[in-house]
Amino acid sequence: MNGKYETHEHDVLVIGAGGAGLRAAIEALAQGASVGVVCKSLLGKAHTVMAEGGIAAAMANVDEADDWRAHFRDTIRGGKFLNNWRMAQIHAQESSERVRELEQWGALFDRTKDGRILQRAFGGHTFKRLCHVGDRTGLEMIRTLQDRGVQMGFDVYMECAITRLLKDGDRLAGAFGYWRENGRFVVFKAKSVVLATGGIGKAWPITSNSWEYTGDGMALAYDAGAELMDMEFVQFHPTGMVWPPGVQGILVTEAVRGEGGILRNKTGERFMERYDPKRMELSTRDVVARAIYTEVREGRGTEHGGAYLDISQKPAEYVKRKLPSMYHQFLELADVDITKGPMEVGPTCHYMMGGVKVEADTAASTVPGLFAAGEVAAGLHGANRLGGNSLSDLLVFGRRAGLVAAQHAKATVAPSLDPGQIDSAERAMLAPFERKEGESPYALHSDLQENMQKLVGIFRTEEDLRQALTKIEELKERSQRMSVSGSRMFNPGWHLGRDLESMLTVVEAVTRSALARQESRGAHSRIDYPDLDLSWGKQNNVIARKNERMELRQVPIPDMPEDLQVLLTEEKGSAA
Ligand code: FUM
Repeated sequence: MNGKYETHEHDVLVIGAGGAGLRAAIEALAQGASVGVVCKSLLGKAHTVMAEGGIAAAMANVDEADDWRAHFRDTIRGGKFLNNWRMAQIHAQESSERVRELEQWGALFDRTKDGRILQRAFGGHTFKRLCHVGDRTGLEMIRTLQDRGVQMGFDVYMECAITRLLKDGDRLAGAFGYWRENGRFVVFKAKSVVLATGGIGKAWPITSNSWEYTGDGMALAYDAGAELMDMEFVQFHPTGMVWPPGVQGILVTEAVRGEGGILRNKTGERFMERYDPKRMELSTRDVVARAIYTEVREGRGTEHGGAYLDISQKPAEYVKRKLPSMYHQFLELADVDITKGPMEVGPTCHYMMGGVKVEADTAASTVPGLFAAGEVAAGLHGANRLGGNSLSDLLVFGRRAGLVAAQHAKATVAPSLDPGQIDSAERAMLAPFERKEGESPYALHSDLQENMQKLVGIFRTEEDLRQALTKIEELKERSQRMSVSGSRMFNPGWHLGRDLESMLTVVEAVTRSALARQESRGAHSRIDYPDLDLSWGKQNNVIARKNERMELRQVPIPDMPEDLQVLLTEEKGSAA
């Protein structure tokens, strides 16, 4: 190492500072580990805040009949039976405790009349289950976790992007990255690394995700030898803003529908009657997103290519109290008063159900010392996530990842760093400066987004997916010729160039998995295979790196124990 690089050493390094990363860091600190938290952006700026409407936990504060069994059943039914059942069980059993803990740490939830945490309805949840803070739940969660973590004493490395995980033989040894501000390189040495980097929304042009979400954790894990699972399942949230163009994709929380919002097409028809007459607007996200998309495609869309979402039948004071952010968002960004008239909304890329394959109880990946929690990890949500299950996921599995990462660190000796790996990571980062007049990272990103929106969107076909794969190969080739100008001081083109590498890896995994799965299930809709195929319901798509190529195989889902199977046959709960 010879002092060439700025180096920091921790027992546990957490990459990502959204809900999962912060919760993991808090737990690792509680175990006595020294913890570093790296965030690509500023602390507190995380996609977690885009889970606005609530945290799903079967607390039964509003609907007494709710319990973890019903939550488990809804999650598995919503995920179209592809979920890791053990993760769904742990999640349903532990969410309420995690929410209570958050409250003890200072989160200020909305209240029932008798002072308990208030819960609201959300799609696919049989009972009113979403604990919330108006429509700013994710924000309150991040605020609370951040305060707690800072008080407990983790070290935070802000505006730092990790470009490679470092290994000592088979095990994880740390990470290499750069400071976004000055472009200098930095090395982290750690016995355990927790990935909590979120998803890949920025590979699609219409997305609720902001610039940070470029699939970094999934690509880092894949490059380090970990497996990716069920990458075909990308969630398009049914309601993003569609107008004006500059704000297209910004989230319109499901809480609008949870509080009584009604969807209509341009003829005024309440079209969800045709798609899911039982659950209507509170159907699962995959169903509602397809419904809106279909209405628009068949010529019944609104002026700007969406659907109307109307909550103005409720008293204005009610709307302002329950949905303060939505009220201001539409007033300020679209000049629409949602207490007086409808919003225009359409699907927006929001969340990735697939990700790093982990063990349910420990959040461990297949690489020793590497853990993953939250959106970057696969399993809990199966083929479609229920709204609100992400925030509880972050708390439940963030905690478990931090706990086991700290235990792993205690039980192992410090790894050695290999200067050869570090030098190679540095060379890869500097290469675009050495090429003159090559491809622009901005043009590559725009072509990548266009490809994904057109060919790997809500509805898919074999022909489109094959075409998408050819384009991805072309983009990979072009990215080898990418050049950037200027210096390493805050250089957004250079940063995007590195992000593109992650995106290209992840979109290839998404497209290969989507091509392989010859059925329609949850968020994966194949026009050429429109039905659910029972045999595909028994296996996950798993991707690993073999001889520098992606190898895809199907892995059987472990049998669910009988006591859990029984729960699924009960009538209570959302229809599959
Ligand atoms: O609509 C929302 O408030 C988003 C919630 C979620 O993605 O869980």
